[in-house]
Amino acid sequence: MNIYTVTLIRGDGIGPEIAESVVEIFAAAEVPIQWEEAYAGLACLEQFGVPIPDTTLESIRRNRIALKGPTTTPIGRGHRSINVAIRKAFELFANVRPARSIPGVQSRYNEIDLILVRENIEDTYAGVEYWQTPDVAESLRLISRPGSSAVIRYAFDLARRHGRRKVTCVHKANIQKLSDGLFLECFRAIAQEYPDIESDDILVDNACMQLVMRPERFDVMVLPNLFGDIVSDLCAGLIGGLGVAPGGNIGNGYAVFEAVHGSAPDIAGKGIANPTAFILSAVQMLHHLGLHADAERIENALRYTLVSGIKTRDLGGNANTREFTKAIISNLPPRSQVQAQNEPVKEPYRTPMLEPRSVEREGWQTVGVDIFFYALQPPTSLPDQVGKLHLQTLSNRGVALEANSTDERYLLNWFRARYVAENPVSEAELQELLSQLAPRLHWTTFQRLYCAPDGTALFSPILTE
Ligand code: NAI
Repeated sequence: MNIYTVTLIRGDGIGPEIAESVVEIFAAAEVPIQWEEAYAGLACLEQFGVPIPDTTLESIRRNRIALKGPTTTPIGRGHRSINVAIRKAFELFANVRPARSIPGVQSRYNEIDLILVRENIEDTYAGVEYWQTPDVAESLRLISRPGSSAVIRYAFDLARRHGRRKVTCVHKANIQKLSDGLFLECFRAIAQEYPDIESDDILVDNACMQLVMRPERFDVMVLPNLFGDIVSDLCAGLIGGLGVAPGGNIGNGYAVFEAVHGSAPDIAGKGIANPTAFILSAVQMLHHLGLHADAERIENALRYTLVSGIKTRDLGGNANTREFTKAIISNLPPRSQVQAQNEPVKEPYRTPMLEPRSVEREGWQTVGVDIFFYALQPPTSLPDQVGKLHLQTLSNRGVALEANSTDERYLLNWFRARYVAENPVSEAELQELLSQLAPRLHWTTFQRLYCAPDGTALFSPILTE
């Protein structure tokens, strides 16, 4: 029998308690897995001085698969999220969060069966943020064609593998016309390659309402990172809360499974944490390895335990973590009763086609520049014209300023001057504008503005109201 080595990170907070539950259940079920323990989290920071040591990353690199307990991320300060670090180190571009009703767990619906696939690396999670002035913090929302295509293709592949009927793209392309617009464009192109699977798209705000009112409208959903983060907690709420919501981070050749919930510091060490989400994440990992029979056996035992009324406190029961774990072990069905077959997967998932990077800017030409600068009042001394470039708009918070019409109480101390030309400009012409402006204002950022070969502007419009 093939024995798999899996990196186990117990994490901090309730992590060690729920991880112990999985270790005991897997041992009792004789799952063909051996654990390689690795460390990350607050305890690790105290002991080794780093939140995630290289040895942990090496272990994941070696085994290609890990089960990770929650780890605490300080808010607004301190080290970066360990999860984000792991996702980036292994290009875990898809975060797969199934939301399936569990009999015995009270929730508003009892027939939810959704899979949410969240882009996992880009968007605001690229972590590109700046202070522009003491009053203005800026976060870049980075959406790329290769990044979007990889996760969208994964969502369609997953739908096909699991016999799902539909993939829905959730976005906000009416407002974020360029970034979400690109995500939607990638979705529509890739959907053509999967004619056997229905596809549609929906704005994220409407999606939230529809999920609450008519969740059966959805099957597989694919979303950019931040929307995916928020909507997956909504989906967790539909099936009974964070205590029962599993997840897996999938990349090209690597996978790390973890529950949706965090380290729950408020109940850590009390022995009352619900291990269900973590057990279901481990079950998802078994399916990923092709160990379907083992996965089904453990999930059946878990479901049977919940239906029989043995639950942790968060689900309205009175079992503690150990009692709940023991009940699951005692409910493990004999191997002979399991319908599924183990079909060990020889090759880990890889996107069949990674979108190549564009090597040329494909005829993109510079037609202007946005200059962002610090000022307390709208400047009056900016030149209207420098060479071919003319001052088109002065804006604040994305809204164009009309002469003498702005109530300055509503202005930020961060402005944008947009200079554009009718025709493409040379580097020398651009440099001339910048060298004339630089001494006159305290600039923070220059942003080049492109147009496509057909003259279409490739930059966002400035709002006029
Ligand atoms: P949380 O998910 O840890 O807790 C939210 C609420 O749900 C708390 O009341 C908690 O007691 C309860 N809860 C969560 N999991 C539970 C379980 N298994 N059994 C019973 N009750 C449970 O979210 P919170 O408080 O926002 O975050 C705490 C820390 O966890 C933060 O530092 C955050 O950054 C981190 N975090 C880590 C994640 C990870 O490592 N994958 C994911 C999300 C948050």
